[in-house]
Amino acid sequence: MPITRSIIDPQALQRAVPVSDVRRYWQAHPLLSYEGDTSETADFFLMLDDAKRQDSETFAFPYWAFDQWAGRDVLDIGCGPGWVSVQYADGDARVTSVDLTDTAIGLAKKHLALKDVSAKIGVASAENLPFPSNCFDLVVASGVLHHTPDCQKAITEAFRVTRPGGAGKITLYRKGILHHPLVFSVMLIVMRLLGVRHPGADLAKTSRTVDDFIRRYDGDDNPVGIGKSDADWVKDLTAAGWQVLGLEIHFFPLRFTPFPVVVRKIIHRFFDRYFGTMAYFRLRKPDTKSETDQPPKKL
Ligand SMILES: C[S@@+](CC[C@H](N)C(=O)[O-])C[C@H]1O[C@@H](n2cnc3c(N)ncnc32)[C@H](O)[C@@H]1O
Repeated sequence: MPITRSIIDPQALQRAVPVSDVRRYWQAHPLLSYEGDTSETADFFLMLDDAKRQDSETFAFPYWAFDQWAGRDVLDIGCGPGWVSVQYADGDARVTSVDLTDTAIGLAKKHLALKDVSAKIGVASAENLPFPSNCFDLVVASGVLHHTPDCQKAITEAFRVTRPGGAGKITLYRKGILHHPLVFSVMLIVMRLLGVRHPGADLAKTSRTVDDFIRRYDGDDNPVGIGKSDADWVKDLTAAGWQVLGLEIHFFPLRFTPFPVVVRKIIHRFFDRYFGTMAYFRLRKPDTKSETDQPPKKL
């Protein structure tokens, strides 16, 4: 790739990464492995559940609607250690879970067993799902598709396997107000002053650019982690055929900040709502040709 292109488009380098590099990274560093020992599975899953419920997903439960898919076919793409899969299985959905790495699949299997729920589960890439078209009522990808080099292909694959009239819940790293060049510089200074310690990467000290900051959120050596504006993600989703029914902003983990728990609880909803780092898209696959031809709804 010409150097000039990657200077002009800092995400181009990430799009050129082979999927095998992504697999190698996540194989060695499954979700939250910088925060807990994955071999101590019971403790690890307790920590994972706590981080999801008390921090990253606290205000997103109505979005996920884990209890509203009983008896329906749900696919969890990039399941990681299986937290989302466990929640839908616990709500009596028929869950299928895939991930790029067998580390994640091993952890997710243990997690499902520990919670006494079941799912069909195996290794697969979001870019080439091993399922026929139109076979799931709900397709979920929680914080996954921005990690695969050909994200557009993965968004299109998720659409392909969804039944006409079915739903998608896809959450993606977003560039919001905190990533505006002026605000971003101030944010890094504030993070340094507060002594924010992000596991896996000292984001405040070592991030050079917004794209670098977003990529490293999941660890210094994470090869792909792409953030876009909400409007750009809407373009990508609609280009794949999805109807975008709505968008919620969430995900502002505060557990790495030095604030006492009581302060975190007071400010959490505000930060999640206004400075959330992920766009949670509510999607639908149109069920007739004429619906497909209609312009996307305004958000
Ligand atoms: C940040 S973790 C999210 C895990 C889980 N979805 C959750 O929300 O708890 C990202 C996961 O995406 C997986 N992943 C990355 N690229 C993938 C791909 N092309 N296909 C399937 N899974 C992928 C990684 O292996 C990792 O488990």
